[in-house]
Amino acid sequence: MALPNVNPTATPSWKKLGEHFDKTKSIKMKDLFAKDSDRANKFSIKWDDFYVDFSKNRITEETFKYLLELADDVRLKDAIQSQFSGEKINQTEGRAVLHTALRAPESAVFEVDGKNVIPEVYDVKRKIEAFTNEVISGERKGFSGKPFTHVVNIGIGGSDLGPAMVVDSLQYYKNHLTTHFVSNVDGDHVNEVIKKINRETTLFVVVSKTFTTQETISNANTIKSWFLESAEEEDIAKHFVAVSTNLDAVKSFGIDENNVFPMWDWVGGRFSLWSAVGLSISLAVGYNNYDSLLTGAHKMDQHFKNEDFSNNIPVVLGLISIWYNNFFKAESEAIIPYSQYLNQFATYLQQGIMESNGKSVDRNGNPIDYETGTLIWGEPGTNSQHAFFQLIHQGTKLIPADFIGFVKSLHGNQDHQDKLISNFLAQTEALLNGKTKEQVIAEGTEEAIIPFKVFSGNKPTNTIFINKLTPESLGKLIAMYEHKIFVQGVIWNIFSYDQFGVELGKQLANKILKEFSGEAKNEHDGSTANLLSYYKQQS
Ligand code: F6P
Repeated sequence: MALPNVNPTATPSWKKLGEHFDKTKSIKMKDLFAKDSDRANKFSIKWDDFYVDFSKNRITEETFKYLLELADDVRLKDAIQSQFSGEKINQTEGRAVLHTALRAPESAVFEVDGKNVIPEVYDVKRKIEAFTNEVISGERKGFSGKPFTHVVNIGIGGSDLGPAMVVDSLQYYKNHLTTHFVSNVDGDHVNEVIKKINRETTLFVVVSKTFTTQETISNANTIKSWFLESAEEEDIAKHFVAVSTNLDAVKSFGIDENNVFPMWDWVGGRFSLWSAVGLSISLAVGYNNYDSLLTGAHKMDQHFKNEDFSNNIPVVLGLISIWYNNFFKAESEAIIPYSQYLNQFATYLQQGIMESNGKSVDRNGNPIDYETGTLIWGEPGTNSQHAFFQLIHQGTKLIPADFIGFVKSLHGNQDHQDKLISNFLAQTEALLNGKTKEQVIAEGTEEAIIPFKVFSGNKPTNTIFINKLTPESLGKLIAMYEHKIFVQGVIWNIFSYDQFGVELGKQLANKILKEFSGEAKNEHDGSTANLLSYYKQQS
């Protein structure tokens, strides 16, 4: 069975939302709060250690009702069922989409082509656990008999961003191993990492689902040559491991087959940190913490699969985002974590969200005439308050924002925590209420300056308040956004799990590369031709 195939704009709920939008587009959230003292309770969800407040949005009970009807009209429930039951919902690539199986308990059953994949998943998990313990304990040693002190993850896109973000986010839980990430084909990246490591005590984890990605293979080869400057071929087996579906390519690179951690074609790159792609996470924080990350994601999976849509966090956030994207025509969404640990979170989500939903053809292959994928950006608060918040507060663009905060700080410095959380709460309040001309005058502002100090307010935010940053709560948070991606892809009637849009540039880069070596001569537009000859002359 395929995913439902419904043009959202042809549904009764879309029509209702359109008419409702025309009537309510100017409503002020401030007035909605004044009229309904229970609004904050009505539009919030408490689940486990999450408190999601979506009351600071330009929605009424009627809006919410129509958005929920839209979820029904596009048969979201059926789509969720199709995904979890292993149907090949990545139709353009003929694959199932089962990152949810990677974090399920061993007793679960997830079938692909009639075969339960859970036993294989657990075989790999046990391999990750044993390997992690051997490296951390020092039982596994480098070629000169010394224990490992550094790990280098070599990968790009989904084979880099997830592990890099999680290792950084969970640095509080880290052990003695230092982890580095090499991704860019820019040789300066790999050389800067090489400066910081020692051949005898560094473990290299080459992560590539396909094992053909130019950046990863180039970086792995550069590191291998550097390693062999003072090690022997047979030492590669001690220092290099791979995570891939392409076992032949891994072997011909020279990696011992015992050092290969397999993955499967039903795991998409940007949803793969839950597979052996997360090996660097397990090494950095220990297997138990890695497993807790997966447990958290599984809890969110259960919530998403079973909870009523009106109380379902990924569904509600997905619907609200559709409301702004398709009716208010908001182009971007900001993600602002009030935790320095989540420094890389927005960057990580850029791939997840934009590679998945940046599509302009529907599930019938027809061009679509409505907006899809939102632009995602963000940086942690409070730093971002001193950078781009001016534009969110007083600029001309509507930018819905998710504010993510943690009640407890990890190091327990309450003075800093109170200051952090006061900013976290103040910003969404300021965005909601703004500041009127009367208030500015009452502050005694000089007449000529008054207009510049007025804040229109009415800027929408979601507040995602979590008890504490732990491996488990981070797992829940990441899975929450993964499911939001799916909800929006279903509503937009697009395929969220392919990424053909990244191919064209790769093909042309390969052609141009051949010109540098004189192997080929191609036709180019005038601009590219000039730039090419400038590079050739100057380099
Ligand atoms: O950017 C395209 C992409 O295919 C991503 O989807 C993927 O995460 C990345 O390249 C890396 O691919 P691989 O793991 O096969 O090296």
